[in-house]
Parts: sequence; C-alpha cells; structure tokens
Amino acid sequence: MNASAEPFGVRIRGTGSCVPARVLTNEALSKMVDTSDEWIVQRTGIHERRICDLSTEGTFTMACEALKNALDAAGMQGSDLDLIIVGTVTAEMTCPSVAARVGAALGAVPAAAFDLSAACSGFVYGMNLAQALIRSGQFKTIGVVGSEAMSSIVDYSDRTVSILFGDAAGAAVLSRDPDPRIGCLYSTMGADGRGWESLYIPRHAGDVPEHDRNNPIAMGHLRMNGKEVFRFAVTKFREVIEDAMSKTGLTAESVGQVICHQSNIRIIESAREKLGLPSEKVYINIDRFGNSSAGSVGLCLDQLWRAGKIEKERPFVMVAFGGGLTWASGVWRI
Ligand code: UT7
Repeated sequence: MNASAEPFGVRIRGTGSCVPARVLTNEALSKMVDTSDEWIVQRTGIHERRICDLSTEGTFTMACEALKNALDAAGMQGSDLDLIIVGTVTAEMTCPSVAARVGAALGAVPAAAFDLSAACSGFVYGMNLAQALIRSGQFKTIGVVGSEAMSSIVDYSDRTVSILFGDAAGAAVLSRDPDPRIGCLYSTMGADGRGWESLYIPRHAGDVPEHDRNNPIAMGHLRMNGKEVFRFAVTKFREVIEDAMSKTGLTAESVGQVICHQSNIRIIESAREKLGLPSEKVYINIDRFGNSSAGSVGLCLDQLWRAGKIEKERPFVMVAFGGGLTWASGVWRI
C-alpha cells in the first residue's frame, strides 16, 4: 500500500475499442429466423451488428486490441499498467481470466488482473472500481475493458436474442493525476439478484428455473425474458441518470454527453425524453453495432472521445444496466 497524503485525481489517459469486421445485417438474420428488418428496426433501432469469426476472434482478441488502442492513445505501454479489469460474461474460459491473458499479451506482467461479471454493466462497474482503487493509492495506472463476443453465447435459431446482440470491446486507461478535480465525481453500483431469471446463461440443467424447463435454448447460451428486462430497464435507466445528475448538480443544459448502454433504442429514447435531454447529448450507435453488453459503453466512449465530443467544461455521464440484474452510473470530468 502506497497511499499518499496529498489528494489527487484520476485521468482518463486514452480510450480504445475493437469491433469485428464481419457484419450481420437484419436482412441476413431474417433468412436465419422468423423476423424482418422492419420489426427489428422498429422494436430495437438496430440495422446491423458485428459478429466475430470465432475461429480467430473472440472476447480475448477484442479485449487485447481495444486495450492496446487505448494504451497507444495514452502514449503508454502494457508495462505501465498495474491492474487490468475486463468486464465480460463471454470469457472463453472461467479460468484463467481474460484479463490475465490480456496482461500477458500486452506485456503487462506482473500487473494484477481479473474479470468482472456484471453483464452489460461490466464496463461502468469496472471504471467505478478502477477510479476508487487509484484514489485509494493502491494502484497508479489501470486498464479497464468491456469485451463481449455475444455471438459465442447467442442461439441463432432463437429470434428473441439473436436480433439484439453484437460483438464489441471498449477500453480506457486511467491513472493518477495531480489535479484532484479531475476524474469521477459521483458513482453508483447496484444489483437486484431477485431478477436473475430475466437474463441468464445456464451451464447445467439444474441451473434452469422450473418455469423455463421447456425453453429449447441449449445450455451455455443466453436466455432472456425481453419484456421483463425492458420493464425493469425503462424505469431504472431514467432513475439512475436522474440520480447521477441531481447528486452532481447537473442539468440538461450543463451536462455533457450521457453515454447509455446500447440496450434498445426505445429504452434510451424513453429516458432521454423524460429527462429533457437533447438528442445530441445522448449518443446512439446501436443502429450499427447492436447491443454488445459490457462492450457497449466503452465503444461509445471511445467513438465520442476520438470525435472530440467529450468536453473538458462539461462532466459526462456513463450509465448501464444488465443481467444480475445490475446497474451502474458514473459522472466524470476530464
Ligand atoms: O442489455 C440488457 C439486456 N437486454 C435488454 O435490454 C433487452 C430488453 N428488451 C427488449 O429490448 C425487447 O423486449 C425485445 C427487443 C427483446 C423484444 O421487443 P418487444 O417489443 O418487447 O417484443 P415482445 O417480446 O413483446 O413481442 C411482441 C411480438 C410477439 O408477437 P405477438 O405475441 O404479439 O403475436 C412476439 O412473438 O413480436 C413477436 N416477436 C418477433 N417478431 C419478429 C418477438 N421477437 C420477434 C422477432 N421478429 N425477432
């Protein structure tokens, strides 16, 4: 422990992302399951999503590339990191963690490394945790990644899950900064495990609740009660953003970007309208990338960052919800 008596801030040094080259359009999906481009666009806002070629790509390769891009943007190397956190529910293996392999691939050994399982909230959970660890003085430079090869756990004969998800990774490198005003101004993380059955990936038949025993989706694949998740998300999303803004004194005018997990355009739009946020402050890329679970907020952050849309004067908000059920928010000043 090397805690310092001096207060310090946490700076986002660089961001990165990775999406596979392969595109899966609604048109192509409608040849695989009983659905249509019109239904998918109307109900989700998705036109296409990216899908890994799982023989050469996956959660690990995307995590490596996203974090490497973030390190390059920061002018740093793997050896500068003392911790790597990877938010994911699609780790190739439960042991070792994706994070440990990323650390080895990027030359970060002996940086600490672990995976974080908070489903779609994984990246925001990771950012909140990382900044707290840096502020505690225990770690100096942390790579946070959200990486999901959802295509590895989606049953493409099921139209309720196959239309929604895509593959992506997003990353950020955080480090200690002498300016104590920089960094995370406010954060929340929560979970309600009573709702776990709405979104789960069973490994064994015994994991499956009684009411879902006839579900034809195979073990190891994602099962979702879309309606239940939707109901939870539509209220939770608004509440979490409202709380983050009110606790930091931000208004629709003074806040910068509000970066939402790309769950479903109807969920995001409903929160945006209720909170009176202008559309230019709520970035949308679900049309091109679908819902990439823990990959989504980091991917949005990187795209906004590189486009110069994250302003110094205006704190920005990150917000997500997902399986668990979990939710998280963070308000950041750069
Ligand atoms: O990232 C966090 C995790 N997940 C989420 O955020 C997902 C949240 N939920 C959702 O996004 C939406 O619930 C879905 C997009 C999954 C589904 O949309 P919905 O508006 O809730 O549709 P629904 O399940 O209520 O189904 C409406 C109708 C049904 O037909 P009937 O009973 O009205 O005749 C479904 O059988 O649409 C039918 N349907 C489809 N039709 C064409 C369901 N899926 C499809 C499909 N294509 N893919």
